[in-house]
Amino acid sequence: MDALELPNGKSNGHVSIKTPPPSPSPFRNSKFFTANLRILVTGGAGFIGSHLVDRLMENEKNEVIVVDNYFTGSKNNLMKWIGHPRFELIRHDVTEPLLIEVDQIYHLACPASPIFYKYNPVKTIKTNVIGTLNMLGLAKRVGARILLTSTSEVYGDPIQHPQTEEYWGNVNPIGVRSCYDEGKRVAETLMFDYHRQHGIEIRIARIFNTYGPRMNIDDGRVVSNFIAQAIRGESLTVQEPGTQTRSFCYVSDQVDGLIKLMEGENTGPINIGNPDEFTMLELAENVKELINPDIQVKKVGNTPDDPSQRKPDITLAKKVLGWSPKVTLRDGLPLMEEDFRKRLGVLKN
Ligand SMILES: NC(=O)c1ccc[n+]([C@@H]2O[C@H](COP(=O)([O-])OP(=O)(O)OC[C@H]3O[C@@H](n4cnc5c(N)ncnc54)[C@H](O)[C@@H]3O)[C@@H](O)[C@H]2O)c1
Repeated sequence: MDALELPNGKSNGHVSIKTPPPSPSPFRNSKFFTANLRILVTGGAGFIGSHLVDRLMENEKNEVIVVDNYFTGSKNNLMKWIGHPRFELIRHDVTEPLLIEVDQIYHLACPASPIFYKYNPVKTIKTNVIGTLNMLGLAKRVGARILLTSTSEVYGDPIQHPQTEEYWGNVNPIGVRSCYDEGKRVAETLMFDYHRQHGIEIRIARIFNTYGPRMNIDDGRVVSNFIAQAIRGESLTVQEPGTQTRSFCYVSDQVDGLIKLMEGENTGPINIGNPDEFTMLELAENVKELINPDIQVKKVGNTPDDPSQRKPDITLAKKVLGWSPKVTLRDGLPLMEEDFRKRLGVLKN
């Protein structure tokens, strides 16, 4: 990727520009302010967001505010923090402006599963575009650093494999997935425009398929589908041809990567994902072997624009964040099985 020429004549490459961002709230210097950081997590009641909140709350110096409209998230995911003096939960839709004082914004709000984002595509693109504009406006007003959880979907059906951050992608602009893919691409553009024009401190993570406890059951994402099917004793439905690949990152690794990115000096975009690549048939065989060897694997029709290959190149994350995933698929799947069994009420024989 070419280094970008900035209005002040400096180049940003992948590093934050030198223009000073707006000063953080003077409240930071108040004698009543005991926490080091007040952190906003949009979409914090969702799958990745709630794990991120758990990790941020472990640090006694953090105050965490979650904003969520509960479209795909749930208060249940945050139950253990409700009532905690360093925690606040606000029902709010990010497509509406938000006026609060914060130092950091993790902007995750957006449905991630195709079933949900295709259910209301107009709302999905509004969440990506207007929601990101609102959060950038907030970051600008209070001088907060903002991290966007973008996605590997910005690469579309990639011609380059594995995908590096320099790859510009191969995305259908008018397809049924475009509200999500193109929405995130515009969100990335907005982040960089606010960074160049207003000196906002930005961070962009391009998240690759992530899995773990608290994923919505039957949400159309392949790992949650397979695990729920295996626990219920149903056939595993592999979308044709079954040779399409994905790589799966366990949620604790993902959260480590996001926090390292927020705390580091690099704007990104940076791929955060696990480069171990599996075909859908291999994933099904792993789930079958680990969870229920008695079930069948059955092929079903595919959805339009399903990418045939997906694997992150994480050289940049290793180099600038010192991050790489630790949890293998065979270690992560049983942890997710335990959570799904509790929620489905099906005990292991
Ligand atoms: N899980 C993955 O594999 C994956 C992959 C790539 C990118 N991401 C990105 O990571 C983020 C979190 O994904 P997730 O898997 O936790 O999804 P999720 O659906 O579990 O969480 C999204 C959260 O955002 C909330 N939300 C949606 N629209 C909102 C709105 N308009 N206002 C306020 N809240 C809203 C939902 O209620 C939910 O709690 C998303 O931005 C997603 O695009 C996830």
